Amino acid sequence: MCGIVGIVGRAQVAPLIVDALKRLEYRGYDSAGVATVAAGELGRRRAEGKLVNLERRLKDEPLDGTIGIGHTRWATHGVPNETNAHPHFSHGVAIVHNGIIENFAELRAQLKADGFEFASQTDTEVVAHLVARELARGVEPVKAAHLALKHLEGAFALAIMFQGDDNLIIGARNGPPLAIGYGEGEMFLGSDAIALAPFTDSITYLEDGDWTVIRRDEVGIFDMDGNPVDRKRQQSLGTAYMVDKGNHRHFMEKEIHEQPEVISHTLAHYLDFAGGVSRKLDLPFDFAKLDRLAISACGTAFLSGLIGKYWFERLARLPVDIDIASEFRYREMPISPDSAALFVSQSGETADTLASLRYCRKADIPIGAIVNVRESTIARESDVTLPTLAGPEIGVASTKAFTCQLSVLASLAIRAGVARGTISPEKERKLVRELSEAPRYAGQVLRLDRQIEKVARELAHYKHVLYLGRDTNYPLAMEGALKLKEISYIHAEGYAAGELKHGPIALIDEHMPVIVIAPHDRIFEKTVSNMQEVAARGGKIILITDKKGASLSSVETMETIVLPDVPEIIAPIIYALPVQMLAYFTAVFMGTDVDQPRNLAKSVTVE
Ligand code: F6R
Repeated sequence: MCGIVGIVGRAQVAPLIVDALKRLEYRGYDSAGVATVAAGELGRRRAEGKLVNLERRLKDEPLDGTIGIGHTRWATHGVPNETNAHPHFSHGVAIVHNGIIENFAELRAQLKADGFEFASQTDTEVVAHLVARELARGVEPVKAAHLALKHLEGAFALAIMFQGDDNLIIGARNGPPLAIGYGEGEMFLGSDAIALAPFTDSITYLEDGDWTVIRRDEVGIFDMDGNPVDRKRQQSLGTAYMVDKGNHRHFMEKEIHEQPEVISHTLAHYLDFAGGVSRKLDLPFDFAKLDRLAISACGTAFLSGLIGKYWFERLARLPVDIDIASEFRYREMPISPDSAALFVSQSGETADTLASLRYCRKADIPIGAIVNVRESTIARESDVTLPTLAGPEIGVASTKAFTCQLSVLASLAIRAGVARGTISPEKERKLVRELSEAPRYAGQVLRLDRQIEKVARELAHYKHVLYLGRDTNYPLAMEGALKLKEISYIHAEGYAAGELKHGPIALIDEHMPVIVIAPHDRIFEKTVSNMQEVAARGGKIILITDKKGASLSSVETMETIVLPDVPEIIAPIIYALPVQMLAYFTAVFMGTDVDQPRNLAKSVTVE
């Protein structure tokens, strides 16, 4: 989603802003722009497409100024072109915005009636005109911005700058994140700590309803009534990480390869390998007393939660209600007072997940958040943060965050089973030992890259792919299909293998590769029967299994990818890797933008 940067600085800011915007590229965008004030005048450069286009623009027509705001835009209202790119100007006001102004149509009509002309199709431009309208009435800039904010409904993070003032940026937050960064005689605004990392690690996150007045040597934070509010200044973790690709072609490839290490860090946080026990957690609920657990999330994070459901129900006999967050938030699910809720999110900023959390907050049940960004809104609004220790995930397609989410969920399910008396000490020791082996097996699977690349070369020739799996491999089949469609743009669907006969079998012919995830488990034979049904109709099968599965399956396959025999509890973590690698290599063969696939955003801060 859109990224925002603002600098009230000492040096020329345009190159610094572009640099910070590059660190926000991972969020997804389709145009970009920067504006500065130099010699009292506002200037701006904008460009459709990637930041290189903006850089080219700035090279041809440099922009002076020690104060500026910049933006990467992920189009919501209006096509991604230069005219719709931010910053938007109105009579000496410059503005960048992340989010959606829901009442923009009404405001636009009012402003038009007041004589304001619109240059773009965006919802954002209304904010620039609203501020300008106050200025025209003789209101001074800070007050004008405050009055304009009061008209806005919807989700927004904003940065506003004024002609004639090279020492003032106003920021505001209602929904999408916005952070203030403190420098020496300079101040910053950014959508996240990663953007601000080269400048400062001293950060304050604005809360919903906050707005801020930033000058080189002072910062004020206020609520919507204009009262000053105190917000914690904290040291950001953002600078602790080098955000580069290392020797890899893409962030996604790097992140796939980081998995043995980050899974190990995450598991070690929750499990005491030496003692063979799951660590005691300071939870706001007692697993033994829960009658249900609600889990909600979006996309890949939702699919990790779905695998978690199998674990909680099987290992801890704890019923789980799970739903994608965009449905959860509106379907008015009755919430038992003896339940708790878990929200899963890499970014910790996903709008629907946050809204679902707030729904549960109203129901007054304890809330846990499995998040990768510990300073995120979802983390801050939950009663307990259960971190994934994946490090920054830059590739838009989630990989290492997913397997770390699974690591947390498996560990929690064990903890729940121990608390509820469904897991004996011996079983706990066994499960903890088995999970401790996950990083080693993940390392072995990464070495299958040449074979998986070969399969991907084939897959790249097809237009449609079906993924099948049973039990925890069913959510994994959906994850495989999601990964494939989002980065290679091949149409893919993930189905429970048992559902094949109820519809999708009609699609099977020689043009439809079917990827079957089937480790040799309790229901392996059932999945083999489904493969027979596919083979009988000319479908081309790519089987992902283990040594035992490969030796026992009699079905002819286009390719069989043989993974090590792994314990059942870690199978979803280990089998996630070939699924990710298949999507990755296929996208590379298709020549797509692997790390920033079209139309997608890393951090989905609007509905
Ligand atoms: C897919 C993917 C998305 C995210 C989803 C939720 O590869 O990355 O489906 O999983 O947008 O995002 P978070 O986890 O940040 O809440």
